[in-house]
Amino acid sequence: MRLNMERTRIKRMLSSGEPGVRFRAAGWVRTRRDSKGGFSFIELNDGSCLANLQIIADWKTSGFPEMMGKIHTGCSMVAEGVLEASPGKGQRVELHADVLEIVGQADPAEYPLQKKRHSLEFLRTIAHLRPRTNTFGAVARVRNAMSFAIHEFFKQRGFILLHSPIISGSDCEGAGEMFRVTTLDLENPPLKDGRVDFEKDFFETPANLTVSGQLEAEIYALALGDVYTFGPTFRAENSNTSRHLAEFWMVEPEMAFCDLSGNMEVAESFLKYIFTYVLENCEEDMMFFKRFVDATVIDMLARLVKQNFEPLTYTKAVSILAEANESFEFPVSWGVDLQSEHERYLCEKVFDCPVILYDYPKDIKAFYMKVNEDRKTVRAMDVLVPRIGEIIGGSQREDDYDTLYQRMIEMDLNPDDYWWYLELRKFGSVPHSGFGLGFERLVQFVTGLSNIRDVIPFPRTPGNVAF
Ligand code: 4AD
Ligand code: MG
Repeated sequence: MRLNMERTRIKRMLSSGEPGVRFRAAGWVRTRRDSKGGFSFIELNDGSCLANLQIIADWKTSGFPEMMGKIHTGCSMVAEGVLEASPGKGQRVELHADVLEIVGQADPAEYPLQKKRHSLEFLRTIAHLRPRTNTFGAVARVRNAMSFAIHEFFKQRGFILLHSPIISGSDCEGAGEMFRVTTLDLENPPLKDGRVDFEKDFFETPANLTVSGQLEAEIYALALGDVYTFGPTFRAENSNTSRHLAEFWMVEPEMAFCDLSGNMEVAESFLKYIFTYVLENCEEDMMFFKRFVDATVIDMLARLVKQNFEPLTYTKAVSILAEANESFEFPVSWGVDLQSEHERYLCEKVFDCPVILYDYPKDIKAFYMKVNEDRKTVRAMDVLVPRIGEIIGGSQREDDYDTLYQRMIEMDLNPDDYWWYLELRKFGSVPHSGFGLGFERLVQFVTGLSNIRDVIPFPRTPGNVAF
């Protein structure tokens, strides 16, 4: 056998493969079934699509009888033969193999993935094998398609992709939920006046994993116009919920000469573009989610791309929620941060569509958001969707030097730490806006999976960093 062997991906074979043509397939066995007539049916999957290739192996063909007993679920193999129209149900074509080779065996007594359905909880404990299941294969393919759609959307609109740093010296959200990055000996750190001496650390100052690429994106937006980042972000918040991860991927566009309503327009078009892309390009996987995960996913996406999102001020939302005939776990009054139960209520019960909440109280939002004339609210906007709640958080940025400086003082941030951010308001400042999309929350929304741990290949949550 050659390395980097010539093979045809099963997706291609099934969609365009002509009966009568000879193909070589390589993948992992899902099942094997033997017939009394001296045939075996092997279902082979190679990850290129949800469907398996049905392989018919005639035992009389040389070498097969000895091998047949060793072909089990999970083993990897190569099969070569002619593609024929299939008389059986469930597939258009099947491969009549005359060459079969086991590449790597999988002992059925030990291999944990068997034909029955396994729970998502169990599959999380075997994250090295779960991509070989239908669900996780489909998630990986849809996630891939969504990433592609994101880059395509921005490319069409003339945005530049910015690789913002992962290690950061500043706290973008000012919420202090950061992971420290250090090479100091934690057992025996250098001290100065009784405190850890970070001048002796690698960066000679405290450093963290970034919570957002926004501040750096603003720098580039104020030079290149429209930019976006798409990278991992890290939050050390101790939330064990179905929509929080300690490491997640965020898409952050940042636009110069753009106000809050321009920002909302981009956010809405952006989401619709991704939904349309998935509907047009991931039909087989989406049908799988519809059938086995959430019967409403496809209809929901198809409906959303035609709907107008509902813009709603925070103040209006609070009065709707306060008057709602609904017992919320967290009570609502002006000034409190909304919980996902409130966000979902607005999208699912009141408007039946995504809602863009804007003009939030300044005390519950980050320091960089532009203060409104009322001096009480800021030009923030969150996009809320049914089932998930907040999926996008963004704002118009404060572009006035003095106001921004004042906000930092109010929020106990040291302006010296953000000197370069302040200077952007001194040299050629312009109104600018942007937002952050939580990529995993979007994958959750699109696939219907209810736990965020199942839409990222290797979830990092409190107490869990395996694999
Ligand atoms: O609302 P957030 O905190 O906004 C920012 O970080 C801004 N700097 C973005 C910007 O304006 N450029 O986070 C943005 C989105 C949220 O709406 C949510 O979808 C997602 O990121 N998110 C999380 N996703 C998974 N796990 C977590 N712990 C998340 N925290 C936020
Ligand atoms: Mg937010």
